Amino acid sequence: MPQNFVPFLNENARNEMIGLLNDRLADTIDLGNAVKQAHWNLRGTGFIGVHEMLDDVADHLREGSDMMAERVSMMGGFARGSSQTVAEKTTLEPYPTEIVALEDHVQALVSRFNAYTTKLREAVNAAGEAGDEDSADLFTEVSRTAEKDAWFIGSNSAKAA
Ligand SMILES: [Fe+2]
Repeated sequence: MPQNFVPFLNENARNEMIGLLNDRLADTIDLGNAVKQAHWNLRGTGFIGVHEMLDDVADHLREGSDMMAERVSMMGGFARGSSQTVAEKTTLEPYPTEIVALEDHVQALVSRFNAYTTKLREAVNAAGEAGDEDSADLFTEVSRTAEKDAWFIGSNSAKAA
C-alpha cells in the first residue's frame, strides 16, 4: 500500500474512509458523466442557458471527485476512478441516453442529484462517527455545492415551481 499521510486515524477508520471516499467517488464521476450527457443532448426553450450552466456543474463535480480521490491517496489507499470500477460501483440509476426535451433532462438530473446528496449526507455522518472530521468536512463541501447546483438545474423546470 502507498504511504499514509493521515497519521492520527487508526487503521480501521482509515480503511473505512478509503472505502467510503471511493464509493462516493464512483457516484461523483457517474453524475458528472450524466451532466455531460444532458449538456450534449438536451434541446428546447432555454437551451443555451442550461447547456452552458451544465458545464459549470460538471466542473464542480470534477473538483469534488478530485478532492475525494486525493484524500484516498493521502490516506495510503488506491483511488478507484476507472470507468470499469465506476460502472460497477455507482449507486445512481443509469442515465437515459435517448431523451431530448430540456424538461426531461432537468427531471432526470434532479432525481439523481437528490439521490447523490442523500448519499453524501450519510457519508458526512459516517465520517463524523469514524472520527474523521476532515472527510466529513470534504463531503459537506461537495454536498453543499451539489445541493446548490440541483437548485440551479431544477429551477429551469416549471415542475419545480
Ligand atoms: Fe460543451
